[in-house]
Amino acid sequence: MKTSVCIIGGGPSGLMLSQLLHLKGIDTVVLERQSREYVLRRIRAGVLEHGFAALMREAQCGERMDREGEIHDGFIIAHNGKQRRVDLHKYSHGSSVVVYGQTELTRDLYEARDRMNGIIIHNVEDVQLHDLLSANPHVTYRTGDEVARIDCDYIIGADGFHGVSRKSIPKTVLKEYEKVYPFGWLGVLSRTRPVSPELVYARHDRGFALCSLRSQVLSRYYIQVPLTDNIEDWPDDKFWDELKRRLPEEIAARLVTGPSIEKSIAPLRSYVAEPMRYGSLFLAGDAAHIVPPTGARGLNSAASDIYYLYHALLAHYQNNDNTGLDTYSEKALARVWKAQRFSWWMTTMLHTFPESNFYDQKLQQTDLEYLFSSEMAQGALAENYVGLPF
Ligand code: APR
Ligand code: PHB
Repeated sequence: MKTSVCIIGGGPSGLMLSQLLHLKGIDTVVLERQSREYVLRRIRAGVLEHGFAALMREAQCGERMDREGEIHDGFIIAHNGKQRRVDLHKYSHGSSVVVYGQTELTRDLYEARDRMNGIIIHNVEDVQLHDLLSANPHVTYRTGDEVARIDCDYIIGADGFHGVSRKSIPKTVLKEYEKVYPFGWLGVLSRTRPVSPELVYARHDRGFALCSLRSQVLSRYYIQVPLTDNIEDWPDDKFWDELKRRLPEEIAARLVTGPSIEKSIAPLRSYVAEPMRYGSLFLAGDAAHIVPPTGARGLNSAASDIYYLYHALLAHYQNNDNTGLDTYSEKALARVWKAQRFSWWMTTMLHTFPESNFYDQKLQQTDLEYLFSSEMAQGALAENYVGLPF
């Protein structure tokens, strides 16, 4: 098979790029290791920067997001029993975020690909990338006993952190940066009315907590837990009790509890791989960078990669202009590192670090007090949260 752009990975990054390019007459093939049902079973975050929401509309799959997603103009930070609101609208010149689950967003992208008869091959195994330093790379993969080959101009590695693409870049070329946090997030999804119309990020001596939502009848809650904890250690009742203890009394009193329909523990890590290009291979999303979820930047960082790649490939195919491709890695990384910094800062300000000494704790407290005593500081938080310009 021959195509222009072969995309490894059928997650939000790969699907979004495939859809945007198809709308401009550039053909793609998406190879996905799992089934569609498996990909759509993943529960992930759901706060979209305004730039990402605009990209969904440009990709002609923003209709359900605009109908069912919620526009949020602010969120709450709670600490030491106090609640303070971050007014995103006021401090980002009228901007906001869209709260809309990544699972729903990925479903919309798949349906948009179906409407355009996009080529997505699921359940592929043993994907291998070849001749990356040539102008005619190709990809091989297996479905059952059959080995297939795709010839293309470019390969996009949108196959997440555990994918094959990044591993295809020689260790002598790839530079990796990593920070692992000494705790994880225990997340619960429940068919209950959200405790707050806006997200609540809570700093507490017992650990961080987050109250989020998917809709007015579907809530998502997280608490910080030691990395050694397992799901079995956290029956629903214990989870709800601990969550209440970490929230201001007034919020805890309003909390509607119920059976968890999904419960999982995710470790917190910051990771960046450089460069994000190796010959005809371009990395995007989790394949190149991971952030702790505290700043809700994971999906949004992936979207900015896709924004730069989309415009770079468009310039190549429409005007034979390779400037965008040649500057992709540098441009994408510049914005990725800002999302890394913001996610690290939010994580450091709002979590309880087992090894922290009194000096660290005083600094953390001062960081929060400075935040709420300075309009400039709230402005910096707001502009990062709604999304820095592409
Ligand atoms: N061959 C084909 N597909 C693969 C391979 C492979 N060797 N390895 C992984 N994949 C698929 C995975 O099954 C997954 O569906 O690539 C896809 C990568 O999707 P994501 O991990 O969702 O990554 P991305 O599309 O970049 O989305 C980033 O996901 O994890 C969240 O916080 C993150 O929100 C961010 C978003
Ligand atoms: C979520 O809704 O899952 C969510 C929201 C905000 C975050 C992280 C996760 O910062």
